[in-house]
Amino acid sequence: MQHASHERDAWGSRIGFVLAAAGSAVGLGNIWRFPYVTGQNGGAAFVVLYILFVLLIGMPVMVAEVVVGRHARRNPVGAFRRIAPKGLWYLVGFLGVATGIGILSYYSVIAGWTFGYFIKTLFGAFSRTLTPEESIEIFNRFVSHPAMSIGYLFVFLLLTTIVVMGGISSGIERWVKILMPLLLALLVILTLRSVTLEGARKGLEFYLKPDFSKIDGGAVAMALGQALFSLSLGMGAMITYGSYLGKRENIIVSAGWVCFFDTLVAVIAGFLIFPALFSMGLDPAGGPGLVFIVLPTIFPEIPLGTFFGTGFFLLLAVAALTSTISLLEVTVAYMVDEKKWRRKPAALFMSSLAFVLGIPAALSFGGVAWLSRLPRIGLGFLDLMNISLGNYSLTLGALLIAIFVGYKWGIAGVRAEVEEGGNVFFFRKIWTFLIRFICPVAIFAIFVYIVVTKNYF
Ligand code: PFF
Repeated sequence: MQHASHERDAWGSRIGFVLAAAGSAVGLGNIWRFPYVTGQNGGAAFVVLYILFVLLIGMPVMVAEVVVGRHARRNPVGAFRRIAPKGLWYLVGFLGVATGIGILSYYSVIAGWTFGYFIKTLFGAFSRTLTPEESIEIFNRFVSHPAMSIGYLFVFLLLTTIVVMGGISSGIERWVKILMPLLLALLVILTLRSVTLEGARKGLEFYLKPDFSKIDGGAVAMALGQALFSLSLGMGAMITYGSYLGKRENIIVSAGWVCFFDTLVAVIAGFLIFPALFSMGLDPAGGPGLVFIVLPTIFPEIPLGTFFGTGFFLLLAVAALTSTISLLEVTVAYMVDEKKWRRKPAALFMSSLAFVLGIPAALSFGGVAWLSRLPRIGLGFLDLMNISLGNYSLTLGALLIAIFVGYKWGIAGVRAEVEEGGNVFFFRKIWTFLIRFICPVAIFAIFVYIVVTKNYF
């Protein structure tokens, strides 16, 4: 007797994959991280380098991941196993799933802050003039408050879990169809407000005038690392989302849209942040605290500041949510495909695991002293997670995926998959050259660079 094999869930519409994958890519990396990293690394010169890496490295690796996923119709572990049944390649999939749960845990801590700041701003916390010291004080009190940071971590993971429990077409796709247009609308409204502030010009000049003297090895590694992280590459998120993609879709076109959209949002985020900063005479190299510490001092000074401030933190929270959804989905797909769990318990189990792992990260900003500065390592727990997973593991994963697709599986297999359903493999020769030669060499080089110099991105 034949087993009642469940049909695998799939995107319900052509735009479903592009919106969900763009939602995964567009996240805190674009709106929180990209502007301050750009500010610290020479403004426009860094942006040029970044775009180059998206085109030469990010786009080819994205195509590689989506092709693997669609061909195998499996989570990352199952996908490597199916294409290369012998050997240890499936371990690359395991690395991805483990990295996914780890990134989900600490990423949700910061995502929780954005949600907390959304609530704070909504209720008028930033409606009166603040000195920079007061703003730092508010931030430190917030992130070192154990119940507050763990509570918001919980809320954020809960939202993520609810969406993922709904499945692909009636969960993730349904939600990204609402959240992505909302994100775009907020981004456009806020950017228009920022560039029309008095004194915005100086910010635009800083952002648009390249200073190539700032570009050194560190900036190059930063640009490539940021491109991989921002495009959600190196841990199988795109393998997983690609596994739900229909055979009629053109993978090159779909991946192209995702890369374009992700880069567009990052570049626009610069137009949102820099004019606002410069209009207040503030420092563009403000670092990670930029959006939580510096921006709240600006809101009280502009008309309808509470409205725009609330919109800004809502924008961050929405961007983060569509990313945490993809992080959780990678691990859920693994449990569903490989361990035959049902989706709902798998989502609950994996998000609970992320919650437990996230607790020490949430307490590492003053909540618990030793977690905030780990003995001998000297870093906070969240920073350590970000360096080992966001830097080392994603870079290693992207390197191995490029080698796997370029050499182990091989170009013929990729070509057959891309051309399935009569699709054209645009830029096939260029892609082949990039994935076999340029991507492995460039990604290996920055991997060595961060290992040797400990100059993380
Ligand atoms: N791309 C997301 C960002 O830029 O914030 C982060 C991320 C999401 C990385 C999902 C990796 C991933 F699988």
